Amino acid sequence: MTNRPKRYTITAALPYANGPLHIGHLAGAYLSSDIYARYLRLLGEDVAFICGSDEHGAAITIQAKKEGTTPQAIVDKYNQNIKETFEKLNVSFDIYHRTSEQIHHQTAQDFFRQLHANGEFTEKTTEQYYDEEHQQFLADRYIKGTCPKCSHDSAYGDQCENCGSTLSPTELINPSSTLSGNKPILKSTTHWFLSLDKHSEWLSKWIDSGILDGVQHHDPKEWKNHVLGQCRSWISDLQPRAMTRDLDWGIDVPQELEGAEGKKLYVWLDAPIGYISATKQWAKDNGKDWELYWKDKDTKLVHFIGKDNIVFHCIIFPAILKSAGDYILPENVPANQFLNLQGDKLSTSRNWAVWAHEYLEDTKDTITNNVDVLRYVLIRNMPEQKDSEFTWENFKELNDTELTAKVANFVNRVIVLANKYYEGIVPTPDTSLSIYSGTEENKSSSYENEIAEIKKIVLQCGKYIEQYEFRNALKTVLDLAAFGNQFLQFNEPWKTVKTDPEAVKVVLNLSLQLVEALSVIIQPFLPQTSERTRSLLNAGALGNGAWNELVEDLKTNKSRIGNGHQINKQFYLFEKIPAEVIDEQIAKLGKTEDGAIVYPEIKEEASFDDFMKMDIRTGTIVEAEKVPKAKKLLKLKVDIGMEERTVVSGIAEFYQPEDIVGQQVLILVNLAPRKLRGVLSEGMVLMAENEKGELAFVSPQAGFGNGFTVR
Ligand code: 2FM
Ligand code: ZN
Repeated sequence: MTNRPKRYTITAALPYANGPLHIGHLAGAYLSSDIYARYLRLLGEDVAFICGSDEHGAAITIQAKKEGTTPQAIVDKYNQNIKETFEKLNVSFDIYHRTSEQIHHQTAQDFFRQLHANGEFTEKTTEQYYDEEHQQFLADRYIKGTCPKCSHDSAYGDQCENCGSTLSPTELINPSSTLSGNKPILKSTTHWFLSLDKHSEWLSKWIDSGILDGVQHHDPKEWKNHVLGQCRSWISDLQPRAMTRDLDWGIDVPQELEGAEGKKLYVWLDAPIGYISATKQWAKDNGKDWELYWKDKDTKLVHFIGKDNIVFHCIIFPAILKSAGDYILPENVPANQFLNLQGDKLSTSRNWAVWAHEYLEDTKDTITNNVDVLRYVLIRNMPEQKDSEFTWENFKELNDTELTAKVANFVNRVIVLANKYYEGIVPTPDTSLSIYSGTEENKSSSYENEIAEIKKIVLQCGKYIEQYEFRNALKTVLDLAAFGNQFLQFNEPWKTVKTDPEAVKVVLNLSLQLVEALSVIIQPFLPQTSERTRSLLNAGALGNGAWNELVEDLKTNKSRIGNGHQINKQFYLFEKIPAEVIDEQIAKLGKTEDGAIVYPEIKEEASFDDFMKMDIRTGTIVEAEKVPKAKKLLKLKVDIGMEERTVVSGIAEFYQPEDIVGQQVLILVNLAPRKLRGVLSEGMVLMAENEKGELAFVSPQAGFGNGFTVR
């Protein structure tokens, strides 16, 4: 490989310790970073893989209020839960730290002092939203409203969980306090603002061309398009951003500063610094020098995150690092997009989620190798470039047709045949004999050629990992198993073992080498499967550098499972999943732990006047057609008595246009018109939505006329 750095600092977004992990988290930042870190260790690289709990901010205090307990109890509970889940899933952090640790408070405050001393802040008094009933300023998650970007009706003051946009409270449409539901008032308060605008020139150069301080820092072509896109739209309008909050939970603003009383650090200032404090702790525990991992130019820093964290890692944290002094900046931020579930967005409040700890518990006796099946399905569907989808049907399909029929089947056949023919003792091959290739039927080949084929796949797999293309990388692992299956199929050792036993020795020896290679390259993705495969081979654990050794051995035709070596008896790596196991999981979605449906919370009180403002009428759909290139939208014409209205409605997944002509509906006719996909929509057809996110029409009694009001 060309020009490797001396060492790698790999960070995975610090999850808020306000709830357990679900599959969206795993597919976002944690499996990708784990694959990358594991791979680099297998190359023998010096790696610090850093994560921990994010224990500050409104995410925590709001959860505490919901559960009727203290923020401290919340972070203690979920830090423990999350940490254990990561361990069970074999995510190989070098440290899982906490932002509540003393070393972190100290580090974050020192950063603040440094930035302050360097003149990076301006103190500004501005009007901010305030809840009079709770006597509290409403920053971040204390305020909710309609997202200006996607119209989602409960976006937070700092970000929209629906589209991933980063917001500020003043951008929200119809803001309300999440504490009382009240409309907030404006009240003035003083905070320290980071002058991001001062940084726009170098940031924009760095993002666009990868040039930093006059030298090529990274190649921007290696960054994902959606990451660059978000960065560019931010850089075009960088505003000073408050780095402090009026809260009582969080890290104190250094008290020697005037006006610091009652002020805490903004959680998005403190959290990324958490990567550094965690590294300090890890270095201390392991006799390392933390500064090398954050300051040496020959260290490659990579942040793994979900798309809702892009601006913090690509703009704000880099600005902080650069202002604070001699820190390195990330060479890449390969953010993932969002994972949807069974056709709908993940929603923790509706319990439309698969919780990792529950999955592990539920399936420990019913799914063979349940940890790796989950890892596999999430990596296969990783939302690398665009949002992607997890369904239980696909989960079963991938387990049955890929993990079981390809990977487990191949390994199983080799182990069974080697035990049957040679009592598990690796046969000595005559490598001058010709055999059939695994690449093409009836193509004659040699031991050497087949080893070269294996090497090709191994190198390709590594190349994909280095480019953060983990789906493709995993596919090459599957290719290796498929290659092995074909190799057996084309050579048919079960037919020739009597007639051509020497050739069969070559075939089985090669197959065992192939299984061994598989056990190496599968390790970053499915560590447990790697371990189990090696135990079948009676081969030792993989140490640092094992991938390199494999490549070297493949280059020199050195067999890694030696002649005469005794392997073990077979057991199944994966088995088909019974349909009931899947059905049970589907049935759990949208329900509480005891099986009750999770109903949406009742919205804040509306006055009679609010209600009377809405003009809802009876109507009938007279025309319906699909909106081109929009999976979810239908364009409807609705007869409302005195006229016909065009309405664009997000119901295409539930209704065919031809089936709904003549359907009676209720329609909100005085909603401000808006353009959707180029079509002006002049109203909203009312739909009921159930816990599965399915929509159904709400209509008046049959035959009731059009155009009459509903009240
Ligand atoms: O979005 C989140 O869950 C944040 N807790 C991520 C923080 S990443 C980092 F900066 F610490
Ligand atoms: Zn949004």
